[in-house]
Amino acid sequence: MPGLIVVGTQYGDEGKGKIVDFLGECASYVVRYQGGNNAGHTVVVDGKTYKFHLMPAGALRDKKCLIGCGVALDPRQLAKEIDNSGKKVDLGIDPRTPIILPYHNILDGARENRMRNKSGSEIGTTNKGIGPCYEDEKSRIGLRFFDLVGNEKKLEKMIRERFEEKMIILKEVHNIEPQLLVEEVVKEYIALGKKLHPYMADVSKKVFAALKNDEKIIFEGAQGTLLDIAFGNYPKVTSSHPMSGAILTGIGLPPTIFQDFKFRIIGVVKAYTTKVGSGPVITCLDHNKWPVDENVSEKEAKIIRKNGGEVGTTTGRPRRVGWLDTVLLNYSQSLNSCKEFALTKIDVLAGIHPLKIAVAYKHNGKILKDYPSWDLEKLSECEAVYEEIDGFENFEAKKYADLPKSVKRYIEIIEDATKTPITIISTSAERKDTIFKNFKKI
Ligand code: GDP
Ligand code: IMO
Ligand code: MG
Repeated sequence: MPGLIVVGTQYGDEGKGKIVDFLGECASYVVRYQGGNNAGHTVVVDGKTYKFHLMPAGALRDKKCLIGCGVALDPRQLAKEIDNSGKKVDLGIDPRTPIILPYHNILDGARENRMRNKSGSEIGTTNKGIGPCYEDEKSRIGLRFFDLVGNEKKLEKMIRERFEEKMIILKEVHNIEPQLLVEEVVKEYIALGKKLHPYMADVSKKVFAALKNDEKIIFEGAQGTLLDIAFGNYPKVTSSHPMSGAILTGIGLPPTIFQDFKFRIIGVVKAYTTKVGSGPVITCLDHNKWPVDENVSEKEAKIIRKNGGEVGTTTGRPRRVGWLDTVLLNYSQSLNSCKEFALTKIDVLAGIHPLKIAVAYKHNGKILKDYPSWDLEKLSECEAVYEEIDGFENFEAKKYADLPKSVKRYIEIIEDATKTPITIISTSAERKDTIFKNFKKI
């Protein structure tokens, strides 16, 4: 098994970090192919919590880590993560990777504010400058990792030119005069370039060579399929492609790799739905109020939020939660082609009676066949059709046979509705609390 893609099937925060870390034991490489430090991947080992935003979670097991050109890279964050790791990291960064500059964060926040004030239509971004960074890349005015670590004079010139334009936009469009000095940005980025220079590597070439060498590689997805820039609930999405196929352009690999090498795609499914930002969530237990208004939330939402820690890590804002949605999973499945799922956070549903799983949508009284990801108005008019089952209480399980009957039934319903086997079941945040079910060793 040279290639294993771990992809989020919902709206992010499915527990990809835990699964990558868990499976990482057997891998030589862990590679990020999209997103940036909008991602937050948490791994818990023996009670100790480790957070990753840009570094692939494989760093915890001292694997070779790579960052492909599909990532939006904030060098300030990466430098912090390298320093905080307190050890020498084996890291390669592609020279073609777009770079986030401080003005991207300011523009991200300014645009969100403007949309909020004008029409209440903000996305609820992480404010990490992801959208503005990819915009610059697509407009061919962005800086790339190669520029950051290259000639200092050239870097200074590039920053100064871009800075001027961004300040005009901020002033004229957004009425903001940020306390940001170009000299300081230049100084900081020259220093970052020097620090990160040793990590430059042709990631496309390295991954291809590793595949040929029969080495095991985990491709660590960030965000989730329904946040995909094209296939998610646009515009309530992120600015990259979290879906599995994005490893081709996010790293620089030809489509023939799927013929020439063995690949496995594991979709990570959280046992319920959460969404951090705005946009319709059909199975929402918070009456789709965004931001959440606890006064109108269903009691199940409060239990799930509390037990699952479903509160934004940076903002402290409660995340919207809802029942598991297999219609959405089937859509995600059709895009990712996962042959198996890893189910996470099933323990969080303990104590809720009954449990519900959405197995179809109705629109104007008729069952909807396809998932109209592009039509948010129609989606928000949809009603979920639920299958109900008895809940379960807190449990301890070391193997599949130990799981409560209702948990097994819950798993069966998902498998039936999606025609996809669940081969990994995670029962707590801890690395060791992970159960296999007919899982083929990687
Ligand atoms: P990611 O972005 O997909 O990697 O997910 P996050 O790390 O942002 O969010 C998942 C959260 O749930 C983290 O705090 C994990 O430590 C935690 N977690 C992962 N799996 C489980 C699980 O099976 N049960 C519980 N209770 N927590 C889990
Ligand atoms: P991980 O990898 C959950 C959401 C934001 C917002 C939208 C756009 O931890 O699963 P952006 O900053 O990307 O422009 O914000 O996407 N979002 C995430 N939600 N988990 C993530 O990553 C996310 N990354 C972005 O909340 O709604
Ligand atoms: Mg996360």
